[in-house]
Amino acid sequence: MKRKVLGMVLATSMVAATLVGCGGGSEQAAAPAADAPAAEAEAPAAEAETEAPAAEAEAEAEAPAATASGNKVGVAMPTKDLQRWNQDGSNMQAELEAAGYEVDLQYASNDVATQVSQIENMINGGCSALVIASIDGESLTTVLEGAKSAGIPVIAYDRLIMNTDAVSYYATFDNYMVGTKQGQYIVDALDLDNADGPFNMEITGGSPDDNNAKFFYQGAIDVLQPYMDAGKIVVPSGQIEFATVGTPAWSTETAQSRMENILSSNYADGTNLDIALCSNDSTALGVENALAANYTGNYPVVTGQDCDIANVKNMIDGKQSMSIFKDTRTLASQVVKMVGQIMKGETVEVNDTETYDNGTGVIPSYLCEPVFADVNNYKELLIDSGYYTEADLQ
Ligand code: BGC
Repeated sequence: MKRKVLGMVLATSMVAATLVGCGGGSEQAAAPAADAPAAEAEAPAAEAETEAPAAEAEAEAEAPAATASGNKVGVAMPTKDLQRWNQDGSNMQAELEAAGYEVDLQYASNDVATQVSQIENMINGGCSALVIASIDGESLTTVLEGAKSAGIPVIAYDRLIMNTDAVSYYATFDNYMVGTKQGQYIVDALDLDNADGPFNMEITGGSPDDNNAKFFYQGAIDVLQPYMDAGKIVVPSGQIEFATVGTPAWSTETAQSRMENILSSNYADGTNLDIALCSNDSTALGVENALAANYTGNYPVVTGQDCDIANVKNMIDGKQSMSIFKDTRTLASQVVKMVGQIMKGETVEVNDTETYDNGTGVIPSYLCEPVFADVNNYKELLIDSGYYTEADLQ
């Protein structure tokens, strides 16, 4: 992705961030859905400045309402292996059921063919709307033709589904902002504006078939690039480009073995690794395992994303510096709201109509705001909010 475009993405993200978190004020506030709670109809102060994009967002959000009738919603999740998707799935199910929908929730063991056949069954089994967190964003074009011709609206959940005009909406956390927050954490932790360095960094990216992975990577690199250009950050392995740092299927084991190789080739002589930029928690876990097994130097700043329990425990133990908290409850609530709006033929709440082009055009999106978590704020974020109990983190 081109820097210029991402600069615009950052600007867009920042505007979105000042306007909304999930469930906060939104660009739809000017024309609230009939059943929207009163608080949501109040325009936040900042909105005056963004009237133009708001109007644009609304115009683009006037997509055709569902033509399939009934109240069953299909929810396709990628895998039970990663903690977050279990939470996403169960939150979606609970919220949809509470809103009066019947739910067909399926997990596909990270197997594309399984996910395709689950979606086929949802289409043939009478679902009136589909919410899909794809495994491989490029692999659903054919099966979703069936959804389109049956008039079944599709919401891409967390990950954009590419190359199909069957996708009506996208709801996610601001993926580019996830990366910028990871990058900024590193800048602050090492005081890069004042320190001379050079600091040694290694990068562990996400799965190349996940559209989010490039946004996470680019967000972080855009923040860190000036320090790399100034020679304050160097990458001893030389593996910097997205294509060379990816971790297929976000696998912990793959991230671990790659980092073991990097450590033995570049750090076995006692060179310190100062920064392990990891796109998410499953890859961070692999890197942390590699560090535990193969590294005796000063412990690096390690980033992550998702606040998975194993990683929060590592954060408490000093083995991971930060994670990004994406409260799956807020994303689920937002998507349930969007499902309701689609089913009732109401204007669907979106707050971004520029960033996510899936190859057939920009998909109107709702971006929730991610926040960083570390050892200093995890209690407030994760325990006080009821996301985890103290016992979960023992
Ligand atoms: C999600 C991340 C997650 C990763 C691996 C991404 O699409 O946005 O939260 O860590 O997939 O499951």
